Amino acid sequence: MTSLIPAPGVLRHPTVGGFVLGESTVLDAGPGTEATARWLRGTLGAVTGLALAPGAGDDGETIRLRVSPEDAGHLGPEGYKLYVNGDDVTIHGGGPAGVFWGAQTLRQLLGPEAYRRAPVDPGRRWQLPGTFVEDSPRFRWRGLMLDVARHFMPKDGVLRCLDLMATHKLNVLHFHLTDDQGWRIEIERYPRLTEVGSWRARTKFGHRASPLWEEKPHGGFYTRNDIREIVAYAAERHITVVPEIDVPGHSQAAIAAYPELGNTDVIDTSSLSVWDNWGISANVLAPTDNTLRFYEGVFEELLELFPSQFIHVGGDECLKDQWKQSPTAQARIKELGLADEDGLQSWFIGHFDRWLTARGRRLIGWDEILEGGLAEGAAVSSWRGYQGGIAAARSGHDVVMCPEQHVYLDYRQDAGADEPVPIAYVRTLEDVYRFEPVPPQLTAEEAARVLGAQANVWTEVMEDQGRVDYQTFPRLVAFAEVAWSALPAPAERDFADFERRMSAHYRLLDALGVGYRPPTGPLPWQKRPGVLGRPIEGAPPNR
Ligand code: ACM
Repeated sequence: MTSLIPAPGVLRHPTVGGFVLGESTVLDAGPGTEATARWLRGTLGAVTGLALAPGAGDDGETIRLRVSPEDAGHLGPEGYKLYVNGDDVTIHGGGPAGVFWGAQTLRQLLGPEAYRRAPVDPGRRWQLPGTFVEDSPRFRWRGLMLDVARHFMPKDGVLRCLDLMATHKLNVLHFHLTDDQGWRIEIERYPRLTEVGSWRARTKFGHRASPLWEEKPHGGFYTRNDIREIVAYAAERHITVVPEIDVPGHSQAAIAAYPELGNTDVIDTSSLSVWDNWGISANVLAPTDNTLRFYEGVFEELLELFPSQFIHVGGDECLKDQWKQSPTAQARIKELGLADEDGLQSWFIGHFDRWLTARGRRLIGWDEILEGGLAEGAAVSSWRGYQGGIAAARSGHDVVMCPEQHVYLDYRQDAGADEPVPIAYVRTLEDVYRFEPVPPQLTAEEAARVLGAQANVWTEVMEDQGRVDYQTFPRLVAFAEVAWSALPAPAERDFADFERRMSAHYRLLDALGVGYRPPTGPLPWQKRPGVLGRPIEGAPPNR
């Protein structure tokens, strides 16, 4: 039995025919499949020690890659058909991406040991069973949001994350680059954003109710070339990187760098530093022309670096207290004829909606941006449950479903006392497996507005890659199957079969060196003293 995850549309293992990789195996890569050939040579070449040279070989020697929508069965640009028999291995993709996802399936067919980076058994026969696969994704947005602002993830970790996404056929990295606690991308015209904004003097340890700080500076940022490398590495893997610059809230790091961005008529912003606490900072951007011009400069540089159609502007959790007190903000409300501070937030987001649209891009933001009405073409990340997404789809906007109740991977994976991050809702592997991105109350036309789904990894309590691995895996594997495979309704999903396939998949994650949460619970070094993660008594199950 094969253990493919995400489950393909059709999988058959004919009893005859199988293919063995050997010294004479060649890669015959048709137009548009060069990057996939490079990737196969890199990964399979490393683990098998075989050259997998370019060329067309004799019977039993060729792995053939072709972009061919007709042969792929018109399954769309990401669909593919994969044939393994005694004569050859052939992948027909509906587009270059389809060939790449087919190559991912090919690697999985070789088994968990194919995920190592050097040969551990030089005499091993790399045998593929006779196989036919026909496969295509349910959704075109299969996302992972990575928060590198709360805790910086060095570039190598981001590249590794992209490899892990590709293994699971995920195709959008939503890159949360700025927040109150850090600014992580070099902006040439505003050097203080990284000189000042990319590090904080100390860090709250554990939950925001914790009384402890780690008295140690934390920081880091990506240079422009780091970003170019990340974007190109992602593109070779058919992953789009959607950058997020969070405005007008979650902006204290930027204000610490450039105090004039803040509400200077309410507080002395020159004394602000990059925030060392968790939660939502009251220090938000001033709704002035100066702020708009400043961020147009930021977004101009962003557009040079990120070719993605969508640019994320955040828009979540903007506290309005300073705007209520600020004579400047109040004058702006009057001048623009707005009802209140919520109108000011809409005006702010609306400005960048028009600005991005004029440059051929599309704005996406958290569901709060719906509150004041949105321009045509703007899209919504629905995080406060499904409601925002339903409203957006009904008003003709595209939606990415990422409700916190289901796919916030910082939330605990088990109700037991040993979970290192005992915050918010308990969401087990099975809960994530039964997550349904399309709410049943949508009509077919409205449901077509759901671009897909996204799992969000907020990193307040994940200070390093080990913590991110623990919270993200294995739940991201279940999420990937939800986003790719045509699963039945949640109650009818065969979780026992998924668990059976997971037992092999854990070996794959082991070979990749992923520090997942074991099914039996955290290992001794994955636990934490509970008091540091204690939920606030009586508070809603929120971060
Ligand atoms: C969010 O979780 N504030 C989008």
